[in-house]
Amino acid sequence: MTTTDPRVAYGDARSQEACGEEACGEEARGEEVSAGDFRHTIGHFATGVTVVTSVGIDGQPVGTTANAVSSLSLDPPLILVCFDLSSQTLEAVRVHGAFAVNVLAAPQQELSANFARRGLAAAWDGVRHRPGRTGSPRLHGVLATLECTVEHCLPGGDHEIVVGRVRDVETGDADAPPLLFWRGTYAALGGEPPLRSLPRGA
Ligand SMILES: Cc1cc2nc3c(=O)[nH]c(=O)nc-3n(C[C@H](O)[C@H](O)[C@H](O)COP(=O)(O)O)c2cc1C
Repeated sequence: MTTTDPRVAYGDARSQEACGEEACGEEARGEEVSAGDFRHTIGHFATGVTVVTSVGIDGQPVGTTANAVSSLSLDPPLILVCFDLSSQTLEAVRVHGAFAVNVLAAPQQELSANFARRGLAAAWDGVRHRPGRTGSPRLHGVLATLECTVEHCLPGGDHEIVVGRVRDVETGDADAPPLLFWRGTYAALGGEPPLRSLPRGA
């Protein structure tokens, strides 16, 4: 296998063993990075903020704030969310088999803080929402919602990676800026506009 083999470049499951055991020697593996150093460093990677919602076994809405969310595949349309193994929302997502990713706008910081509290029924008081196609709550006033059914659940250390197949999408107010999370705190886009917009579909 050469280094230009795309399976090595993208590290798919088949190449993992070769990468871990052959391609990366003792030196590359080195000492373990501490949780604190890892958290601090990965925090420099700015993300959006979402509330991932689903339906609990009692039929009540559940949700958690999540920024470990990524687009995964265009065809088929897949998205992934990484849930802490102790997450009550994860438990609901596994049983309900569906979830919605609600992308927050900058003025929705309070909503983010609200859903960062563990499984409080009271967290839904005053939160405007309606059930989407899969029954998962769509939050009012968000930038976008992607409604998904669960395609795979994969192990990911102290998290579980839930891969969702996107079944329905909706976008909201195009002018509202996104809520960001950066270096352990909320952030907003700077005043400077981006140099150049990417063409649609790029
Ligand atoms: C900005 C932000 C991002 C977060 N991202 C995630 C995440 O991606 N995955 C996760 O499991 N928890 C994440 N959390 C923590 C959960 O929101 C928090 O643990 C919550 O209490 C879990 O609720 P639940 O147990 O009811 O699901 C995040 C919290 C904040 C404030």
